[in-house]
This record gives sequence, C-alpha cells and structure tokens, in this order.
Amino acid sequence: MRGLKWKTVVVTGGGGGIGSATCRRFAEEGARVVVADIGETAALAVVESVKALGADTMALIVDLTDYAATASAISKVEAEFGPIDILVNNAGWDLFVPFLKSEPDFWSKIIDINLRSVLNITKPVLASMVARRAAGRIVSIASDAGRVGSSGESVYAACKAGIIAFSKTLAREHARHGITFNAVCPGVTETAMLENFMEAAGDKEKLRSAFTKAVPMGRMGRPDDLPGAILFLSSDDAAFITGQVISVSGGLTMSG
Ligand SMILES: NC(=O)c1ccc[n+]([C@@H]2O[C@H](COP(=O)([O-])OP(=O)(O)OC[C@H]3O[C@@H](n4cnc5c(N)ncnc54)[C@H](O)[C@@H]3O)[C@@H](O)[C@H]2O)c1
Repeated sequence: MRGLKWKTVVVTGGGGGIGSATCRRFAEEGARVVVADIGETAALAVVESVKALGADTMALIVDLTDYAATASAISKVEAEFGPIDILVNNAGWDLFVPFLKSEPDFWSKIIDINLRSVLNITKPVLASMVARRAAGRIVSIASDAGRVGSSGESVYAACKAGIIAFSKTLAREHARHGITFNAVCPGVTETAMLENFMEAAGDKEKLRSAFTKAVPMGRMGRPDDLPGAILFLSSDDAAFITGQVISVSGGLTMSG
C-alpha cells in the first residue's frame, strides 16, 4: 500500500490478537510501530516480533483509561520516537452480560476501556497532527455490535456505536486539515477477548458453532483478516476516504 513506509503508527491494544497482527502488517510495509498496551509482557513480545521483521519499534505501556497518563505518554513518544502519523484505536474489552444482570460498576469499566480510552488518546495525537499540519490518519476499531446490536453486549455496543459517531464527527471537523477518520468493524474474530466472552456466555462450543453458522463465509474471523482494511484506510490510497465504516466479518452484517 502506498505511503506507509517510514510512517510512525501507534496501535493501541497492540499486544492483543487483532492489534498484534496489525502491528506486524505495518512493519511489513516499512512503518515504524509503537505497540501501546496495558499488558507489558504481551506488548514486549509483539515488539520482538516487529523487530524481527526489520522495523523500528517501541512498546508504550499505558492504561488508556487514564487521560493524564495517556497524554503524557504521547508527548514522550513524540519527543523520543518522532511525530505520530497514524493512530489505530484498537484496545477494547468485553464480557457477555445481559443488561438487566449488569451493574453500574461494570458499565463504567466497559465505557472507560471502550469509549473513554479512544477520547483520551485521540485528543493529544490529533492536537499534534493539527499543530504540525500533518495529513494524519485515525482508524478506530469499532464492532458490528455497534452497527446492528449484539445480545449480551448492550453497553459495549453503545460504546462501539459511540466510536462510529465520534469518528464521523471528527472526520467532518478535520476534513479541511486533511486528517481522515474511519472505523473498521470486526465481526466475531478468534482472539482472547472472544474466548473470554464465550466463556462468560456459558456453552462455549454451542456458541462457537452458532457464530460459525451465522457467518455467510462459513468461518469466524481471524486476527490476520483485519490488517488489510486497517492499513488501506491508513495509507495514501485512502486519502479521499473519511467518515466511513467498513465491516470485516465474512458477510455477517451487510450494512448499507
Ligand atoms: N474479537 C472479536 O470478536 C471482536 C469483535 C468485534 C470487535 N472487536 C474489537 O477489536 C479490538 C481488538 O480486540 P481483540 O479481539 O484483538 O482483543 P484482545 O483481548 O486480543 O486485545 C485487546 C487488547 O487491548 C488491551 N487493553 C485493554 N484495556 C486496555 C487499557 N485500558 N489500556 C491499554 N490497553 C488495553 C489488552 O491488554 C489487549 O492486549 C477491540 O476494540 C475489540 O472490541 C473484537
């Protein structure tokens, strides 16, 4: 893809399933990769795999739910590693809990990780892009749950719909700066998050089989299914695309 070589990208949740696949794919395209995650062991392992592909890289260990810590971590990255060209908002977390069985503490945790974190890191990264007059790219990983709903994921789905609206609004506010905002929606994708979600839902194997049957392409997603869309939207080839939402879900949802 055009325009990714030597670009500096921050991938949040870079230590996880979709995040690590995305970090490695950016490395293959010659980008410089910041692996941002709350989990140090996982982030460092991804940094090693990115180094093995010959890319410049660093780990950023940060709890994205903490605004002050996130803003200061971004200043440090920009001072030590260079200005950020691309931000991939990918960190997330969820469990299967029907709304009437959920409590406000759980809502707060879901909202902090899935929505507030995106605001916390987007603000300092975007402010720097605007100040530098950089044609930045911000790609946020939402979910098909945010487009069509998903049982057991009411608050998470609300956050993901919120990310889509946030992304579209910033796409309008910053179009004149040449900074684009788009959202990518995975369907059911085989990662640690999905395993924990299915565990919490009860009959894991029954759910796995139901998910597989529901996908027109006949299988659940894999982490490596996602980077193609994410890197395209981060590239120069997508310079005239902003405020858009694309599902990568084997046809599970086909929103107009
Ligand atoms: N797996 C799926 O089926 C699926 C479906 C739709 C959307 N998604 C979305 O895809 C994205 C990636 O999820 P995944 O499936 O790869 O999950 P994952 O659990 O493998 O990775 C998520 C990563 O986010 C990190 N993280 C969580 N809280 C954090 C915080 N406060 N600060 C910094 N990092 C934090 C975790 O440590 C983890 O490494 C998420 O936004 C998720 O909501 C996943």
